[in-house]
Amino acid sequence: MSNLAVIGTQWGDEGKGKVVDLLTDRADMVVRFHGGNNAGHTLVVGDSTYALHLVPSGILHGDKISVIATGVVVDPGVLIGEIKDLTARGVEISPKNLKISGKAHAILPYHKRLDEARESKAGDAKIGTTGRGIGPAYEDKASRVGLRLSDLLDLNLFESKVKKALEEKNCLFENLYGQKPLKTADIMAEARDWAAFLSPFITDTFEIIQKAAKENKNILFEGAQGVQLDIDHGTYPFVTSSNPTAGSVSVGSGLAPNKIDKVAGLVKAYTSRVGEGPFPTELLDDTGTRIREIGREFGTTTGRPRRCGWLDAVVVRTAVDLCGIDSLAITKLDVLRGLDEIKMATSYRLDGQELFHVPGVLSDFSRVEPVYETFKGFSQDISSARTMDQLPPEAKTFLNRLSETVGARVGLVSVGPERGQTIILDEFFK
Ligand code: IMP
Repeated sequence: MSNLAVIGTQWGDEGKGKVVDLLTDRADMVVRFHGGNNAGHTLVVGDSTYALHLVPSGILHGDKISVIATGVVVDPGVLIGEIKDLTARGVEISPKNLKISGKAHAILPYHKRLDEARESKAGDAKIGTTGRGIGPAYEDKASRVGLRLSDLLDLNLFESKVKKALEEKNCLFENLYGQKPLKTADIMAEARDWAAFLSPFITDTFEIIQKAAKENKNILFEGAQGVQLDIDHGTYPFVTSSNPTAGSVSVGSGLAPNKIDKVAGLVKAYTSRVGEGPFPTELLDDTGTRIREIGREFGTTTGRPRRCGWLDAVVVRTAVDLCGIDSLAITKLDVLRGLDEIKMATSYRLDGQELFHVPGVLSDFSRVEPVYETFKGFSQDISSARTMDQLPPEAKTFLNRLSETVGARVGLVSVGPERGQTIILDEFFK
């Protein structure tokens, strides 16, 4: 398998959890490299369903090492809650199989509060964040006033940094948002528990990943969100505050780009988006509602209904080119069953020009007109298909056209939520 990155090509929620879980079987190590508990992966393993937000999916396979690497932002309370919940369900978690980077930044109570206060003050201009404090935590990291998890190993230092941070944050809470100030002592009361619980897990993940790479172990890099939510390359400002693109695997984990052998792009057979921002192929009609209901398109993290629409191959092509995607994993094809016709946008029209990538200027993106190709729908139950030949010809035509128009082969097709409900075509996923 070698070192593999799994990247969401759309706006997140492509069903990465299942594919990552399949690949984890062959991996020795699974690494989260960016984002935080804004992500949510639902995994169906046997009769159990797990919703993971921070802990890498590798944790469900006892013999794998799971790494929360440097580029992640970690809400310590949420992480501890997740570890405790998983442990209570019989998942074995210890510092032997879960390694957390001391360089990862902490999401602290003022980050979460700031995220919520900004969003509610912004009214209609809100981003539609998950309210988990992701943006403010990355902001402090970039401003060099953030607290790293390693700071928890020295609580005096931690306290002095919190105190300093609150001088500024409380000024905002009191004067701009009309809220009560936060107290250092309250944060420290929680921080002592965080330190006691998390200290044994906090380590230098750079060394651990380097060692694994030198020993030719198979490392799986588990992306969160999707390319169009990338802070640099996505539909800014309606993006997250990290980089879900493939380039971020190296930055966030500390493994050099030439050590990442392959990139898999996750593509849901239609498009969904949560939060605000342009969405050219959005369906505001019964078909959109039907896709949302059948596809269970409600946020794993927030429970929000997701906006749904046709597959946008322009978005996928942009991801393929931006991330050097070798192979596509198509998810939720089964959700399209029963529609008379299925559409795919293969280019956009804007001011008389045809565009093949997502335009970089948001006001242009909000004006593009999708150019659709229409495909015959299929009515057969495809959940038992295990080879391409077992798929209805209409579904194959749709997939072949996607592959051709975005310039990447289809390596895997998911035809149902369970691990086995998968067609594996590419060596890559074997
Ligand atoms: P934030 O990451 O909470 O700051 O939210 C910024 C934008 O990214 C919002 O539109 C969120 O809905 C979106 N977002 C963040 N994480 C996810 C995810 O895991 N799936 C889909 N959308 C996400």
